[in-house]
Formats: sequence, C-alpha cells, structure tokens
Amino acid sequence: MSPQVPPARPERSRRASLPAPFEQSRNPEPQPDRGPQNAACIIGPLALIAEITHRCPLHCVYCSNPLEMKSRAAELSTAQWITVFEQAAKLGTMQVDLTGGEPLARIDLTELIAAARAAKLYTNLITSGIGLTQERLNALAHAGLDHIQLSFQDSAAAPADEFAGANAHEKKLSIAAAIAKHRIGFTLNFVVHRGNLARLDEMIALAENLGAQRVEIAHVQYYGWAAENRSALLPTRAQLDRSLEIIQAAEARLRGRLRVEYVVPDYYARYPKACMGGWGRKLMLIDPSGEALPCHAARTIPNLHFENVTKHSLEWIWQESESFQKFRGENWMQEPCRTCDRRTLDFGGCRCQALMLAGDAAATDPVCSLSPKHELVTSILYRVNESPEIDTGSSQMATLVRPSWIYRPNPS
Ligand code: SF4
Ligand code: FES
Repeated sequence: MSPQVPPARPERSRRASLPAPFEQSRNPEPQPDRGPQNAACIIGPLALIAEITHRCPLHCVYCSNPLEMKSRAAELSTAQWITVFEQAAKLGTMQVDLTGGEPLARIDLTELIAAARAAKLYTNLITSGIGLTQERLNALAHAGLDHIQLSFQDSAAAPADEFAGANAHEKKLSIAAAIAKHRIGFTLNFVVHRGNLARLDEMIALAENLGAQRVEIAHVQYYGWAAENRSALLPTRAQLDRSLEIIQAAEARLRGRLRVEYVVPDYYARYPKACMGGWGRKLMLIDPSGEALPCHAARTIPNLHFENVTKHSLEWIWQESESFQKFRGENWMQEPCRTCDRRTLDFGGCRCQALMLAGDAAATDPVCSLSPKHELVTSILYRVNESPEIDTGSSQMATLVRPSWIYRPNPS
C-alpha cells in the first residue's frame, strides 16, 4: 500500500520560507492556532517578503513571479526600501526575506541589508547566486547578512540549466563553496517536480557536500509561470511515494548534521496548506514597485485593490486596507469551510488556487478532499498519472516525451 502523503506545510513557496529564528517545522500535522482571528486583534506581520526586483538572469519554468512583472523603472528607491524596513520593525516584524527576481540585480543590496539589520530585522537572502562574487559576498557578510538560501534547479548541470533557461549550474557550485566558508546561515533550496525527482538522492548529497546546514526540497507550487508549465511539472503518485521514502531515509541518516525539509505538492494532499499562514495573518509581501500584497499571486484576484507603500504607512495597509482584510478571519468562508473543524488550521487553503481552479477566490480550495470541486484536482492528477514520463536530458529518465517549456522572460 502507498504511504500517506502528509498534510502540506503551513506556508507556501520556495521564495517565502522562514528558516530562522522562528521557523515552524514543515510537515507535521498542524496544531489549532488559537491566535486572534479578528482583524482588529491582528498584530503586525511576523515576516516581510521584500521582492526588491523582478529582474533576473534566469528564466525558470516554475518561477512564482507574476506573468506581468514590474520594470526596473518602477522599482522603489534605496531610501524607500529603508523606510519600509524601519516601519516593519516598528510594527513588530522580525525577519525580512530579500527576494526577487534576483535580489543581486540591485546594486544597492548591501546597503539594504545593512539598513534592515540596523532596524533589528533578521535578514534572509533568497538568491540564485548569479552575480555573487567573492567581494560582494564579503560585503554582504560585513553588512550583517544572517542567512542565505541558495537555489539549485537540479543536481546535474544539463537538466538544471534546462529548467533555468540559462547556463548557471557551474557558477552556483563555485559560489556555494565560498558561502560555506562564511559565518552565515546556509540553506540549499531545490524545487522538485516530475522532471528532476529521479535525482533526489543526488540533490541531498550535493547539499551535504557543499557544507549547507539545511536543505529545503520543495515541490513546485502552481502559480505564475509554474501554472503555465503545470502539465510537464506535476509528479506522478509513484514518484511522490518514492521521494517520501528517500526523504525519510535521509532525515534518519543526516540527523544532527544536515536538516532536511520537504514540502509536498498540495495537489496530492488530503487537506490544503494554510497558504501564507493564513491571509493577512503572518506575512506581507512588497513587490518591486511598493505594492503590498497578502501573497505572491494575490494580483490575480479580480476587483481587489492593492495599496502602495509610497502612499500609505505599512501599519495602515496591514490593519485597515481592504486587500488585507478581504480573507482575514472566517467571515468570508463558504461551506464546507465555514463549519469545518480544520478552519483554524488551514484557513480554507489558498485563495488564489481556489480562484484558479474553481473560479471563485472565496471557495474552499479544491485541493481539499472535502471540497465540492475536488474532482477538478483528481481529474488533473488522473491525466498526469496516465501520461508518459518526460525527458529532461538525463539517462536516468525514461525518454518518451520532451516538454515544450514556457520560460519566464526578463522585465524591461
Ligand atoms: Fe480546510 Fe475548508 Fe477543507 Fe475544512 S473544508 S479542511 S477548513 S479547506
Ligand atoms: Fe495562496 Fe494567494 S497564493 S492565497
């Protein structure tokens, strides 16, 4: 019999993980959250996801950036970002995740990290490593950078470069060796999917060999560019079951040396993930132009207006704006969520996924087995499990169908 897929972790996305200092463990059954559900009682965001640019030298086929990205000309200035960090710290925010795009594309990154540290925020850089020289790394460390999450597309160069749409793998290997020599927290990130799960063992070995303290292996989440490539990226049930065996063996073997985190694909879970830890409850995302969003894909929700940090204070946006209140708490819920015992665990799942799959952002997330629209997900999985394996250029994969990727372009 196949092992059960555990419930998804209580937050989403390779670009928004919270490695420290207040990280939740990823896969155990979530416990009831007895915290305030009422908008009037919500304290400031625990972490700020600062998408400081959408520019990026890579073109990953599963990028979570929106299909309409912000141009360089629209980006906030250094001074505006610093004001955002200072306001966040006053609101009680503990951590800033500097992400993109590729945050190294901002020439003022060192200044931004120094300012975030001066505001007493824990600083986490989420990067491809492309553009990170030894000198720049030294400067970031000197500015007080606490943690780096370095992303890899695969353990092998050819498929990694295919998924990234660029020759990047070898450069990442050399910068990883340099990072490991610094006193900075170091996580290796892998995004896994149908095309690379066959090399899961090798990915874990790579993290071990490169001296990381933690490896985060997260299945693709189907938003942005990943949604465009979903049929080529969704794994089969057999792949998922095998991956769980590999992860369990690796966790046992590496305990105390390398922390292994695994984020399962929620399409296969019985209940949905608590996306972003609940809408407007823990996280705030600021896009490159200063728009404040409750999640990465919120802009896909029609008739929702998002405020800009250049026009309103962070405090007002968090506490008063329509967009952050829209799906906060429980009043917006429909049945079966409205009367379900799990509503304080997963908050009805992901609003953007409900919109994408069921056409209604207030519906129960269709990945939930209790959703009246769950058939939408099971039919997708049926097609995936009936379709042939894909070829990613590795001799370890069955060579049957070669995907036609839709690559993320670079904004102007
Ligand atoms: Fe969660 Fe709603 Fe499903 Fe209950 S019915 S498990 S609250 S998504
Ligand atoms: Fe889950 Fe928007 S991505 S709520």
